[in-house]
Amino acid sequence: MIKKIALISLFVFSVTGVFSQPKTLDQKVDSVLSLMTLQEKIGQLNQYTDDGAATGPVTVDDKKATQIRNGEVGSLLNCKGVERTRSWQEIAMESRMKIPLLFGQDVIHGYKTTFPIPLAESCSWDLKAIELAARVAATEASASGIQWTFAPMVDIARDPRWGRVMEGAGEDTYLGSLIAAAQVKGFQGNELSDVNSVMACAKHFAAYGAAIGGRDYNSVDISDHTLWQVYLPPFKAAVDAGVATFMTSFNTINGIPSTGNKYLLRDVLKGKWGFKGFVVSDWGSIGEMINHGVAKNGSDAALLAITAGCDMDMESRDYKNHLAQLVKDKKVPVSLIDDAVRRILRKKFELGLFDDPYRYCNAERQQKELFNPEHDKATRQVAEKSIVLLKNENNLLPLSKDVKTIAFIGPLVKSLKQNKGFWDVDVPGVDSTFIVSQWQGLKNKVGKHTKLLYAKGCDIEGDSKAGFAEAVAVAKKADVVILSIGEKRDMSGEAKSRSNIDIPGVQEELEKTLLATGKPVVVLINAGRPLVFNYTADHASAILYTWWLGNQAGNAIADVLFGDYNPSAKLTMTFPRSVGQIPIYYNHLNTGRPATSDKDKNYRSSYLDLSIYPKYEFGYGLSYTTFKYSNLKLSSKEMKPDSSIEVSATITNTGKYDGEEIVQLYLRDLVASLSRPVEELKDFKKIFLKAGESKTIHFTIDKDKLSFYNHDLQWVAEPGKFDLMIGASSRDIRLKDSFELAK
Ligand code: BGC
Repeated sequence: MIKKIALISLFVFSVTGVFSQPKTLDQKVDSVLSLMTLQEKIGQLNQYTDDGAATGPVTVDDKKATQIRNGEVGSLLNCKGVERTRSWQEIAMESRMKIPLLFGQDVIHGYKTTFPIPLAESCSWDLKAIELAARVAATEASASGIQWTFAPMVDIARDPRWGRVMEGAGEDTYLGSLIAAAQVKGFQGNELSDVNSVMACAKHFAAYGAAIGGRDYNSVDISDHTLWQVYLPPFKAAVDAGVATFMTSFNTINGIPSTGNKYLLRDVLKGKWGFKGFVVSDWGSIGEMINHGVAKNGSDAALLAITAGCDMDMESRDYKNHLAQLVKDKKVPVSLIDDAVRRILRKKFELGLFDDPYRYCNAERQQKELFNPEHDKATRQVAEKSIVLLKNENNLLPLSKDVKTIAFIGPLVKSLKQNKGFWDVDVPGVDSTFIVSQWQGLKNKVGKHTKLLYAKGCDIEGDSKAGFAEAVAVAKKADVVILSIGEKRDMSGEAKSRSNIDIPGVQEELEKTLLATGKPVVVLINAGRPLVFNYTADHASAILYTWWLGNQAGNAIADVLFGDYNPSAKLTMTFPRSVGQIPIYYNHLNTGRPATSDKDKNYRSSYLDLSIYPKYEFGYGLSYTTFKYSNLKLSSKEMKPDSSIEVSATITNTGKYDGEEIVQLYLRDLVASLSRPVEELKDFKKIFLKAGESKTIHFTIDKDKLSFYNHDLQWVAEPGKFDLMIGASSRDIRLKDSFELAK
């Protein structure tokens, strides 16, 4: 093989007349490009899914091998494992130019080691933990033949009906931007040339999360201000973190499909932001511009997309079928194609694929990394940090390890795969046996003096109550009941929008019958989105929102139930009381007639039949201990435009347990040229305090934290008064002051 590569290098350099090794990456790219035919160039822009694996509507094609051999394919997705990737790569090496294929995969929350779903991870507010999850995923995926993940999804989401909220970091732009950068760092490591790095892909550009009605793929109608202020910053943060690729979104924005949006792709991303990587369409989204009604046919769609700046076509085949003719007809200049090819070749060089196309195909390394026990430890830690304690009446939790009998009831207690959530990866040759079920986790935790009883009670869906009697009988024998209920793992995810986000089936009715026994009931809610569960919220003795936690779900849940880990997570999406409140998010604007309470309904901005408050607000989450906030100090009450203010506060652990607190800093710009949100997260600190310990935390408020996009989309800080709030959630504000930004 080395011989083959050497030959091609010689070929490349002799044809171009350059005998010495090209010095820069751009020169290397150009020397390859200069030898390529138009058909080969277009081939680089073409991405297919592997046979038998699909994450979208498939075009049957039994000629993939021939096309790869002809240099008509630049990348494959859904192809994994060293054997399979090697076999396709060998075919690519038979092509005239011997340009290696790129293998892409949705490694969203882990590869073989499944981590909590991204929304759960975001509730940790722990950037190091989030980076670690991405790092482990990259290490495993790259050992299994993959160089490119279609993650992170950095779409801000304010509508829990949208199934893809599970895949992002929630509703907040500031936190979402930090998480985007942490994920990019985790996936890409220090250098793309490290063999355990994968290229990250910031998706879905843009505003995909603002789909009307929370219906997946739906149109987006949005003001420029909201687009820039709320939806674009996490993408910019990904660019600043060096993200290698972008993916366009399926939706239209104000009538223009993102895949054909020249303003977004060329003017903003590649222009203003200086993005040097490449852009891939979403699955078939080039061809879907016909359905959007902006292209008559595939040729039109290809013209729109390449002109807009979409470099690679995932599965629509419109580039392959139409670009050559478009060039011939002089509708597409070759320079546009060259720019796209250059961007892709550059990444292939950076990944080291031109040096060794098989560098990701090492079976020994694959075996070692996929079964690395350190990865289980990592996912267990991240899972513990992702569990949100929503309620803990009479400090029922943590449970004592001496409890005599526990009844563990519910349809999710013994399941394995459910814990993995949507977007887990089926890794060749690896089954589900290493997943720690919730039952197994509890068994691992309790001593031999504790008796564990089980009953399923009911299914996740359906209306059968046949199992209730057995569940009640089991509950009666126990000192405490733990009830594990929720969604199915594939009730959230792509194309999994729901109009009713209650806990499905008769699960809450089961809970009612269990509570009627008078036993304390701890409820575990497993879900990929904020659900509506008012009965549980009002009646359960304790609630842990466990989301989908991945391979170590059972152990992590047991760690939290028994206090080996004191929960610290805080919600990153607002939990509504009813779908009627959606969209609901903490950083909303004030109205001209704001309601000051739920009693305040007289010509007020409220609902006649519903509270204005969410069930659980952004930033909410309890601990087994309590924290006191005191001693707020501002270095000055006036800030000069180019200076900053130092803010400090003391946090004291006033309870019995050691624990972590996520201290949140919010600002409100009281009078500005545009109405500004009632509060906006601008900083936070996650701190660990031993029982009884106090720590002083510090924040710096600079001009950037006071800035926003004004009507002309300029990033400005306007002089005037700002409220500063420090709290344990967006509603639980403990300390407050204000300061002035001077002219
Ligand atoms: C999804 C993307 C995903 C792609 C490839 C699409 O349907 O929207 O997020 O990366 O499929 O699997």
